[in-house]
Amino acid sequence: MSFAALLKALPIPILQAPMVGASFDVMAVAVSRAGGLGVLAGATVAPADMAAAVDSLRAQTDAPFAVNLLMAPPARPEPSEVDAALARLAPWYAELGAPLPALPSSFSHDFEAQLDALTRAAPPVASFAFSVLTREQVDALHAAGSYVVGTANTVAEARAWAEVGADGICAQGFEAGGHHAYFLEDIEASSVGTMALVATVLEAVDLPVIAAGGIMDGRGVAAALALGASAVQMGSAFLLSDEATNGPTWQAALRDAPDDATRLTRAFSGRYARGLENRFVREMRGVQEDVPAYPVQNRLTQAMRAAADKAGDPEMMSLWAGQAVTLARPGQAGELVKLWWAQAQETAKALAERTALRPPKP
Ligand SMILES: Cc1cc2nc3c(=O)[nH]c(=O)nc-3n(C[C@H](O)[C@H](O)[C@H](O)COP(=O)(O)O)c2cc1C
Repeated sequence: MSFAALLKALPIPILQAPMVGASFDVMAVAVSRAGGLGVLAGATVAPADMAAAVDSLRAQTDAPFAVNLLMAPPARPEPSEVDAALARLAPWYAELGAPLPALPSSFSHDFEAQLDALTRAAPPVASFAFSVLTREQVDALHAAGSYVVGTANTVAEARAWAEVGADGICAQGFEAGGHHAYFLEDIEASSVGTMALVATVLEAVDLPVIAAGGIMDGRGVAAALALGASAVQMGSAFLLSDEATNGPTWQAALRDAPDDATRLTRAFSGRYARGLENRFVREMRGVQEDVPAYPVQNRLTQAMRAAADKAGDPEMMSLWAGQAVTLARPGQAGELVKLWWAQAQETAKALAERTALRPPKP
């Protein structure tokens, strides 16, 4: 079976976005069981734990699922860079009454080791963001029996994934919540809306495209399929679901979010990501280009974000969310997926009626 056939055979062409900090296995299993495709947020899984994580999903559902990794580059920052970053963060830690972290021995899991472990674990689908695999790495995943999906913010990135043999492209538009996947150009050149991105990627590569960014319900699903996408990947729409792990402070901020409340920020992690604007985002805006690149800054703010969460203070947490997040609704993830698909079918029916050829009026 090709990856296009796998997507076509899904009862519901909705992928639940992997969301580090907001989703894990329970949500992925619920979505796959409901007929969509659950995606495990694997970036925080240690290489030694990867096989068990994949086996556990396999044990819980016969339906296909995916595992996602973030391609963090090896981080070897100069001590002076870390010192400067910590000095910038010191007042924030002090305000929370939390100690400044010591220089960590590592800034993220070793991506190559995670990839080796994932390849051995052979999930049905493996998806990646932040860079592009080599042809050899893709070949190894194929040999193990996994399809490969690469995330692209631009047409050039989609072509890069096609060149190394990926089976599908996740086209992530500018609307998207969480980290943006850009890896060839800077954020400005990589900020393309989902509608423009999906259509232009489809012209450029002969691969199934999964549309991501701003899709919150059945209308968005139908719109993406009408554009030619084979499926959608939805993240923010699950942030208030029963299976979401983002916690009460983040969820309350989402429920109270005013219109147009999200911004792109580099301040939390050293890579541009979209979330609700809060005091940290506002006050760090002037220095966000100076903070160390991902994953260093991400690691250095980790304890601050955790302390703020513990204190119930949303102003120093990374409240990742997409541009359309005010449309998020509570519910069980599996039920939400079924509801959105029913809405998409209704939308398609209404559209078919609206576009049907009618005889000209006399
Ligand atoms: C809280 C959160 C965490 C995310 N974490 C990941 C991740 O670990 N890996 C990934 O490829 N994408 C991640 N994303 C991006 C999603 O895959 C997807 O592109 C995005 O949610 C789509 O836009 P939407 O939020 O408007 O639906 C995350 C998004 C959110 C909201």
